[in-house]
Amino acid sequence: MKKEEWKNRYGFLLAAIGSAVGLGNIWRFPYLTYDNGGGAFLLLYFFALITAGIPILILEFTIGHKYKGSAPLVFAKINKKWEFIGWWQILISVVISIYYSVVIAWAVNYFLFAFNLSWGSDTVNFFLNNFLKISGSPFELNGMRYNVTLSIICVWLFSYIILNSGIRRGIEFVNKFLMPTLFIIMIIIVIRGIFLPGSSIGLNLLFTPDFSKIFDGSAWVDAYGQVFFSLSVAFAIMITYSSYLPKNADITNNAFITGLMDCGFSLLAATAVFSVVGFMAFKSGGVIPENLSGVFLAFATIPEAINQMPYLAALIGVLFFLAIIFAGFTSEISIIETVISAFMDKLHRPRKIITSIYCTIGCMISLIFTTGAGLLILDIVDHFINNFGIVLSGFFEVLLLGWFFNITMLKKHANAVSDIKIGIWWDGFIKYITPLILFMTLCLNFYSDIVKPYGGYSINALLYLGWCVVAFLIILAYLLTRLNWYNKDIFKELL
Ligand code: ALA
Repeated sequence: MKKEEWKNRYGFLLAAIGSAVGLGNIWRFPYLTYDNGGGAFLLLYFFALITAGIPILILEFTIGHKYKGSAPLVFAKINKKWEFIGWWQILISVVISIYYSVVIAWAVNYFLFAFNLSWGSDTVNFFLNNFLKISGSPFELNGMRYNVTLSIICVWLFSYIILNSGIRRGIEFVNKFLMPTLFIIMIIIVIRGIFLPGSSIGLNLLFTPDFSKIFDGSAWVDAYGQVFFSLSVAFAIMITYSSYLPKNADITNNAFITGLMDCGFSLLAATAVFSVVGFMAFKSGGVIPENLSGVFLAFATIPEAINQMPYLAALIGVLFFLAIIFAGFTSEISIIETVISAFMDKLHRPRKIITSIYCTIGCMISLIFTTGAGLLILDIVDHFINNFGIVLSGFFEVLLLGWFFNITMLKKHANAVSDIKIGIWWDGFIKYITPLILFMTLCLNFYSDIVKPYGGYSINALLYLGWCVVAFLIILAYLLTRLNWYNKDIFKELL
C-alpha cells in the first residue's frame, strides 16, 4: 500500500492546526487561565509552550517525517523495544476519541437549542437535569438520552465518511473548509463580545495577573497539561500527521506556526468567553457568575449570558456552538486517524476496513456517556488520561529520544529540510528541561490524587474508572506490542 501524502503545505498546516485547535482551546483554556491567576497563568503558559510544546512538536514532526508511519511503527523503527510507547499513545487516543465525541454531540444539541434559546432561563438546571438527566453516582446509569445518542451517532458517521475518504480527499479537504470558517466565526464572536456593556469587567478578571500563582505547583501542572492537550502532542497525532508529509517538507517553521496559531486561537476564545462573562457581571450589578469552570462554562454560563444579550442573541448562540462543533470535529478526526493508521500498519489491512470497524466500535462504547452517569464518568476518565496518561507518555518520549537515541541526527534531519534551523537550545529543552518538568508534574499529580481523591468522587469510582482504566491501557499496550507485524516489509520503508 503506497503511503498517502498531503497535497500541499497548507493542507498539512491547516490539518495540524485543526487538530491542535479543539475543545481544549474553547472549553478549557479560558477557565484554566481564570483559575490560575489570569495574566500570570498566561506567562506560565507561554513558558510551557516555548520550553516543551514547540520543542516536542518539532520532535514529533521530525520522527513522523523521517520514519514515515503511525506512532507504534515509528517507535518500533527507532528501536524495536520502544513500540510499546507508540501503542500507549494510541490507546490514549482511543479513550479520548470516545469521550471527545460526546462533548461534540452535546454541542450539536446545543447548536439546535440556540435557534430559539430553548435551554430556558435556568441553564444549569436545564443542562444537568433536563438535558443530561444526571444521576447521583458514576455507577448509576439510569438509561440513555436519545437526543445525545443521535448526535453521537452523527459525529461518528461524519468522522467515518471523512476518514474513509483518506488524507487528501477527506482530512485535508474538510480542514481547508472548516478551519478558516472557524477563525472567522470566532472573530465575529469576539467583536460582539467586546462591544457588550461590561465586557471590560470580564477581561480584567481574565488578564489581571495574580503573581502569587507562579509559586503554586498546580498552576504549572495546569499550564504544561494544557499545552500538551492543546497541541495534540504525546498522543500520537502529530507523529501520524507528519508521516504524510512529502520528502522535502518544512518541519520547524510548521511547528512554530502550529504552536503559535493554537495559542492565538486560545487567546481569542478566552477573550470571547470572558467578555461575555463580564457582560453578565455588569447585568447583575457586579456579581461574578458562579459557574466558570469545566463544562459548565460552555454549557450553562454562556447560554445564560446569551439569554441576556440585547440583540442577535440566538445568532451568537448558534455561532458559539458551531465553533465548538468545528473545532472539536477537526480534532476528533485527527484523534481517530492516529488509531486507524496504527492498525492499518500493524494488520496491513486497507483503510476502509479498519475505519469501518473502529468507528463502529468507538461509537458503541461512547454510548455509555449518553447515560445519566455520562458526565461523571467523562470527568474522571478525562482527569486520569490527562494527568497520568498524556504526561507519562510525554515523559517517556522525551526521556528515551533525548537520552537513549541520537537526537543530533534528528536535529540534522529537521534542519536539512526547514527554513528555521534549530540549535543547541532544542537539545537542552528535550534532554533536560522538559523531562524534569514532566517528572515533577507527574509526582505532583500523583501526590495530590493520593492525599485528596479527585473531584470528591468515591474511592471505588476513582479506582475502577481512573486507576483501573490506566492499568488496563498499559496491559493492552503490552499485548498489542507482542502482536506480530503482518507485513514485515513495512520496516524497510525508511526514507
Ligand atoms: N488538541 C485538541 C484540543 O485542544 C485535542 O482539544
